[in-house]
Amino acid sequence: MKQLLSIRVTVIIFLCIVLCNKTWAENKASDAQHSSSTPGIVEIPLNINGLDTQLIEKDEKAPFFPSRAKASANPMPEHAFEKTETCAGCHQEIYSQWQNSVMAKSWEDPIYRSLLEMASKATNGAIDNFCIGCHTPIGLTTGNAVAVGQDKAHSPGVDCESCHNMSASNGNGNGAYVLTPKKYGRPLKFGPRSDAQSPYHDTAYSELHTKSEFCATCHNVTHPFNQLAVERTYDEWRDSIYNAQGIECQDCHMKPEAKMVKSAIMGKERESVASHYFSGGNSTLHTHFGNEGMAEKAREMLRSSAKMEITETQLGNYSLRTKIRVTNIGAGHKLPTGFPEGREIWIDYQVKDANGKTIYRLGQVKDGHTEKGTKNFKAVLGDKNNQEVDINVWEADRILSDTRILPMGHMDVEYVSEIEHNDISFPLTITADLYYWPFSQYLVDKIVGPNKIKVEIVKLTQVSTTIFQEQNLATH
Ligand code: HEC
Ligand code: HEC
Ligand code: HEC
Ligand code: HEC
Ligand code: HEC
Repeated sequence: MKQLLSIRVTVIIFLCIVLCNKTWAENKASDAQHSSSTPGIVEIPLNINGLDTQLIEKDEKAPFFPSRAKASANPMPEHAFEKTETCAGCHQEIYSQWQNSVMAKSWEDPIYRSLLEMASKATNGAIDNFCIGCHTPIGLTTGNAVAVGQDKAHSPGVDCESCHNMSASNGNGNGAYVLTPKKYGRPLKFGPRSDAQSPYHDTAYSELHTKSEFCATCHNVTHPFNQLAVERTYDEWRDSIYNAQGIECQDCHMKPEAKMVKSAIMGKERESVASHYFSGGNSTLHTHFGNEGMAEKAREMLRSSAKMEITETQLGNYSLRTKIRVTNIGAGHKLPTGFPEGREIWIDYQVKDANGKTIYRLGQVKDGHTEKGTKNFKAVLGDKNNQEVDINVWEADRILSDTRILPMGHMDVEYVSEIEHNDISFPLTITADLYYWPFSQYLVDKIVGPNKIKVEIVKLTQVSTTIFQEQNLATH
């Protein structure tokens, strides 16, 4: 018994010596790296935080309240962040992709800026930090961006530093990112690789950057004062089959382009490199900025997202009944998702007779709106009086309806139109076109003024069928 005990003690002492030596050796190696002047790879703790309350209190833990943003100081000195032009020197291709993206424009976007100004005035500035935090993280944390009037200094949109200085996330939404631009006196970039070495900056492998929780910091918006779930792109993805299959936002929105094999001119050759176009559905904004190439990429995203089928037609003596199914086959979240006041998808349904005469139509655009009764896929926000909110988002406290289509889900809609058999010549043609716009023309005109921005209507898909009189009546 005594002998056994002493063997155990010896083993423990031996293990202790081996382990202690190992950590000592590691510490020594990393100390050397930290004090050296050549940039290297920095190890950081796991940086995904699953806990989330969406809301925060106004206290010292929330320096940029009501945004959940954090940074190593408040305000951050301007020189803490590098300009994107610096990155462009070595990361040319990624830079030119990003520069074309909507996120590069998220601060100068005229629709955003006009709405921000309205929100700021209506809330006496209480909401400023909130809106600014996601649309220009550098502008918020340096204090350079202002909601109304001229910025104190140039503020970029969601730029390289906004994303690659993100050392951790505090939760899924409302700008819950933590910015750590420097460590050990050198600029530090967090990214998806554990073996990336740069002559210019330190690098750190960040698991966060490979996961949807990274995008979640901004792509979930909760009303900071009444907790209404305004935008829920991340949650929609989290509860979908894509999450179950490990398909992240990055897999669809940063899909590698075949031709890019190096992310930096003096970097390693890789099997593939993440692209930085971040294409979504907003072709209108790209067209407004004169970028047809990007507008077409957005249209391609939209066209890949939906499928439409006519599942039933019934011709009676006095009526024609049609059922249509729209399936979200390509978007990893609701279709559409994001900015709820604007994003709308709808069906323009038409029945024509053999002479091309329209005998029924529902789903046209009239006075800048989709006409009353249009079968659409959209979220509608409401205020405390149950009135629809279109512009005054800050007054919204409820969701009146939400007909957007779940990922891999479908919606069925039905049309019943009156038919006068004597007046029309058969056969009839039914067509249904599925359309998207990021805003109604009415809303854009109200926000930025008339004739400033032309909203583009994009056709996602269409379906049609022919109805013969004899054939259908025979079944009745
Ligand atoms: C002097 C050239 C140079 C400059 C300037 C430069 N980088 Fe890098 N960067 C590199 C190289 C080389 C790599 C390694 C690439 C590889 O091995 O795949 C790299 C890697 C990275 C990575 C990947 C890190 C990882 O661990 O996955 C990120 C992110 C990054 N850089 C961001 C930036 C940003 C942001 C800027 C501008 C503020 C910038 N870089 C400026 C050369 C540079
Ligand atoms: C909206 C956030 C965001 C912005 C803006 C952004 N990046 Fe990235 N970047 C990412 C994410 C996320 C990844 C990792 C993607 C993956 O691996 O799935 C990444 C990957 C990279 C990589 C490594 C690519 C690879 O596959 O090895 C480099 C280098 C890089 N970014 C540099 C930049 C530079 C330079 C800019 C500005 C011109 C920039 N990024 C802008 C989020 C961003
Ligand atoms: C720091 C905040 C922030 C982060 C992090 C962020 N985004 Fe964004 N993103 C925005 C904002 C703000 C906009 C809207 C810009 C506008 O329309 O003015 C946007 C727009 C987009 C769009 C364009 C939408 C459209 O209508 O065309 C896509 C796609 C997108 N983001 C994807 C991503 C993905 C994928 C990630 C993670 C890899 C990510 N974003 C991370 C803030 C962020
Ligand atoms: C399976 C691929 C896929 C995944 C995963 C995915 N998306 Fe998308 N996303 C799309 C497609 C396709 C569209 C265009 C259709 C649309 O607008 O919804 C789109 C559109 C968008 C838009 C534009 C919103 C609109 O409707 O106008 C944003 C913003 C966006 N995605 C962000 C994200 C974020 C953030 C994630 C992760 C939480 C994500 N996406 C995951 C495919 C994907
Ligand atoms: C938590 C981050 C976050 C906050 C806070 C936030 N936004 Fe956004 N905003 C986004 C994202 C992400 C998108 C893109 C979604 C999409 O493409 O549908 C967006 C899109 C928009 C758009 C549409 C722009 C376009 O051209 O299509 C407007 C306008 C806008 N936001 C205004 C505001 C205002 C005003 C506030 C403050 C009341 C605000 N946002 C607060 C993240 C945020």
